Amino acid sequence: MQGKTAIGVRGLVLNRHAPTLVNLAWSKPFGWDGGYNTLEEQTIRPLTSKQEMDTTFEMLISRLSKIEGYRSWFNRLFPEEGVAQTSIVRAIVTFQRTIVSGTSSFDRWVNGDDAAVSADVKRGFELFSGRAGCSGCHSGWNFTDGALHDPGRASTDKGLGELFPENPATAYKFKTSTLRNISLRAPYTHNGSYAHLGDLIKFYANGGKPRESNELVPFSITELEVSDLVAFLNSLTEDLNEVSVPRLPVE
Ligand code: HEC
Repeated sequence: MQGKTAIGVRGLVLNRHAPTLVNLAWSKPFGWDGGYNTLEEQTIRPLTSKQEMDTTFEMLISRLSKIEGYRSWFNRLFPEEGVAQTSIVRAIVTFQRTIVSGTSSFDRWVNGDDAAVSADVKRGFELFSGRAGCSGCHSGWNFTDGALHDPGRASTDKGLGELFPENPATAYKFKTSTLRNISLRAPYTHNGSYAHLGDLIKFYANGGKPRESNELVPFSITELEVSDLVAFLNSLTEDLNEVSVPRLPVE
């Protein structure tokens, strides 16, 4: 079974779940805590972080340069730099920007096909955009306002506040996650503490952890409404296509 949070290269259990890479081409800032304004900055961090991949650009450049397949592609695509920090980062971010969620049954419904989703999905969407207040933060086609909020989580992780401990306004602030393809990435939230969407919805209904920065407004919800909201969230899953694994250059 998948752990709640990610595991780094040295086997160290990290304190956050690996965030989705879907739709990053339109999503700013980056990371659960929104601590990075560009995808370039964000990409450098896991590569060089001791806990995550623990490498250096010196090591990376030397390893990639030894592999003919990479060396020749880098020289063709980046004739001025070849294999270098800037070209490595550019290649990775360009790849990440191609990871885009596909059409879901929810999209077909919005585009006019009334039969694309069942009645529970329609009721769930009404709750999501109405009484449950989800769309206050999860707004627009990508279901995120791209902003930082305190969503009342119980964890001791202070989000952006971990990067700026001297600034109390950043404490417990996290970036609103996209909900596209959400059904494919349990466990949920920054520390993977919810295995089921229904439990996370009940947490929201209870209003989360009381503290001044918490922006959640509690609301009442029945079991049927919880399952309607889950049905709606599941309707944001793209039609799955077979993706073949590319053959990467080897030494
Ligand atoms: C005050 C803003 C706000 C509101 C209102 C809000 N959310 Fe969130 N949501 C967030 C933030 C910020 C995160 C990312 C931080 C985290 O999950 O720990 C998030 C994360 C999530 C996740 C987990 C995403 C993942 O990739 O694991 C789900 C699912 C979710 N929200 C669903 C909902 C639903 C359903 C509602 C309405 C009942 C709702 N949210 C209301 C701000 C909000």
